[in-house]
Amino acid sequence: RSALAARVHGLLRDVPDFPQPGVLFKDFSPLLADADAFSALVADVAAHWDGRVDLVAGIEARGFVLGAAVAHALGRGFVPVRKAGKLPPPVRSVSYDLEYGSATLEVATTAFAAGDRVLVLDDVLATGGTAAAACELVERGGARVTAVEVVLELGFLRGRDALPGREVRALLTS
Ligand code: PRP
Ligand code: MG
Repeated sequence: RSALAARVHGLLRDVPDFPQPGVLFKDFSPLLADADAFSALVADVAAHWDGRVDLVAGIEARGFVLGAAVAHALGRGFVPVRKAGKLPPPVRSVSYDLEYGSATLEVATTAFAAGDRVLVLDDVLATGGTAAAACELVERGGARVTAVEVVLELGFLRGRDALPGREVRALLTS
């Protein structure tokens, strides 16, 4: 996994002051465009959770790309967790604070059945607000969060503190 981490690290592009001054944006596009690295990443995540999840919930937007690929590799279904107003009703909503601003996430009310084991997947864990909101959406329907999986954890923002008692797995930590 350390070889994979080094490879993925080399494919993430740092963009200072985007989308706002003071924010260091992590551009995942070079990683997604590298067929071998993207495939290796998806295979690593899928192998780790194989047999332990029933559904993969990917958080808009980059969690869709990673999550759908992982769900496919696992032979499991994919559930999109979306920004407010994008999914047709009926939906459940949770609002949360973001590293910059605030936002609302939604998921289809019928997405999860009670007892479903759900892997929550996103690109970056920053303050943890986004992942915590996604976990709340999963559990409101009676499903269970197996873990939160991200490619990159910004450790200095202490996102894990927003996810007490949850398993959090990150390929990279900075
Ligand atoms: C970024 C990132 C994570 C989230 C992490 O997404 O992709 O989803 O922030 O931040 P947090 O841990 O502080 O909540 P963003 O909301 O910027 O939207 P995007 O994925 O659609 O670009
Ligand atoms: Mg995001």
